[in-house]
Amino acid sequence: MTMRTHTCGHVDHQLLDQHVTLVGWVNRRRDHGGVIFVDLRDREGLVQVVFDPDDPAMFAQAETLRNEFVIQVSGRVRRRPDGTENPNIVSGQVEVFALELTILNRAEPLPFQLDDDRTHEEHRLRYRYLDLRRPEMLARLRLRHKVTAIMRRFLDEHEFIDVETPVLTRATPEGARDYLVPSRTHPGEFFALPQSPQLFKQLLMVSGLERYYQIVKCFRDEDLRADRQPEFTQLDIETSFMDEDEVMALIEKMMRQLFIESIGEPLPDPLPRLTWAEAMRRFGSDKPDLRIPLELVDVADLLVDVDFKVFSGPANDPRGRVAAMRVPGGGKMPRKQIDDYTKYVSIFGAKGLAYIKVNELAKGREGLQSPILKFLTDEAIDGIIERTGVEDGDLIFFGADKAKIVNESLGNLRVRLGHDLDMVEHGYRALWVVDFPMFEYDEADGRHYALHHPFTAPHPDDLDKLDTDPEQVRSRAYDFVLNGYELGGGSVRIHDSATQTRVFKQLGIDEQEAQEKFGFLLDALKYGAPPMAGIAFGLDRIIMLMSGAASIRDVIAFPKTQSAGCLLTDAPGEVDAAALRELSIRVRKPPAEQAKQ
Ligand code: AMO
Ligand code: AMP
Repeated sequence: MTMRTHTCGHVDHQLLDQHVTLVGWVNRRRDHGGVIFVDLRDREGLVQVVFDPDDPAMFAQAETLRNEFVIQVSGRVRRRPDGTENPNIVSGQVEVFALELTILNRAEPLPFQLDDDRTHEEHRLRYRYLDLRRPEMLARLRLRHKVTAIMRRFLDEHEFIDVETPVLTRATPEGARDYLVPSRTHPGEFFALPQSPQLFKQLLMVSGLERYYQIVKCFRDEDLRADRQPEFTQLDIETSFMDEDEVMALIEKMMRQLFIESIGEPLPDPLPRLTWAEAMRRFGSDKPDLRIPLELVDVADLLVDVDFKVFSGPANDPRGRVAAMRVPGGGKMPRKQIDDYTKYVSIFGAKGLAYIKVNELAKGREGLQSPILKFLTDEAIDGIIERTGVEDGDLIFFGADKAKIVNESLGNLRVRLGHDLDMVEHGYRALWVVDFPMFEYDEADGRHYALHHPFTAPHPDDLDKLDTDPEQVRSRAYDFVLNGYELGGGSVRIHDSATQTRVFKQLGIDEQEAQEKFGFLLDALKYGAPPMAGIAFGLDRIIMLMSGAASIRDVIAFPKTQSAGCLLTDAPGEVDAAALRELSIRVRKPPAEQAKQ
């Protein structure tokens, strides 16, 4: 016999006078003038059940019901009395008059109220299975399911083949630390969990798969943020015989379909493209949030000769930048707020935050207000006013330093101002960022790093600079950016081992190390590797943006905490000595940990 005839959330006026059997959780019990009302909840929604005292045995049982008991109720659907309808739920016109009640399971009082928004996240994570009973959380998991279903359908229709790749593998460099797994059968040796399936998907192209995809867990031991988890999910894609334009065209078609079908939001066709250089110049970021109508403009050339070292220094430094940002209506900003922003940009290394308030342009210098005005020539001031396009009542912020510091501080300030001043437009503003530099120079380490990953192909026009002027080499990489988040990133790959070896060399990986770590890839590239290109999306980030969640933790069923642990299962945990012995491992805790014990 089936346990239910209908789901709670779908009981409506069409079932009037019918007999139904429902199962679910007691969302709430209310006793009213000798009648008991129970809001019964299943995953489809709520329905009100009424217990009448005319059946004393059942009524007595109903009196024992507590929140979150699991029950089965049979009864008759009837119209709610006038004035008691609830327009917010599907079943709001009707109620179920109970004829039979079975308690399927009792529940102890929950450690927190499901409908209490103030529950601390730690509590929610420790009892995640309860947290997921909240309709909001369930809706996010459902959205996630819907999105992956659309992705799979689209990719299947476009002849992609879903292939699984190993989880116990060798290190794949994507810029984070690896999670390591000790091998029992190879004492002293370790597997690395994949940071991405990058190398395997390239090998699959060598195998002739032509179009691969996988919805796959990736593991990165890195500092966690709201949009980063140690274990996260990628939609991973690789193609053969497609260049970057074809890949971008296909992928944006998928993303348009995804956004319209899952949340009814259109994305532009075609998606706008910005070069990395333009994105940095105008927004100080390689993942600009286009919903915020603030832009940076370069003013270094106006300030090379001014008698103010803060500006003239970076203006004369080839790695320096002096940029201005107009804040419409910012002239009213109190000193305290400017001080707060000055503190904020210091996080990114800025040594200050110069500003000019524009009171009345018609009055010339007199109409401006700023501690740095005295250092600026009339030409400089005129130039700044013209370039920023300021009007009366505006404010201009300045950043002057190494370009990296100016970009990070003004780029982040731009986003912060957008939110603080309520300037963020509604909707989804997606774009591609292209023409990334191949390498990023790390001053501290004195070496180059790959901006994407070491398997990204250099731009053909820049190949001659690969060995002599690597910082000027652009790559064939592209990022999919939405509302200030990097949702996906990919590139055309190197498909010949000679170029791959040259790139490794620039990254300080000599032939021996390359052979040791990536010998299998270099070999594979020698046996007829086709031209290939691909991309990977962060699924968690897509769902976070679609659902308006504040963190990817809210769209992952069982996420990790900021310190990369699981409060629910208490992982990671210690293992017993015998297990370690089998793995030939001896644990030496850092002194701080030892002191704790
Ligand atoms: P990349 O490192 O850019 O590229 O990763 C692709 C996308 O994965 C998401 N992502 C994350 N999401 C949550 N938590 C994390 N810690 C995290 N790290 C990355 C981001 C990112 O855009 N193999 C290449 C792709 C390729 O070249 O095809 C790669 O992994 O949304
Ligand atoms: P100072 O000469 O240090 O008193 O700075 C004068 C003004 O310039 C103050 O408003 C500072 O906040 C600002 N300032 C100092 N250094 C920088 C910088 N690197 N970029 C932008 N503004 C700065």
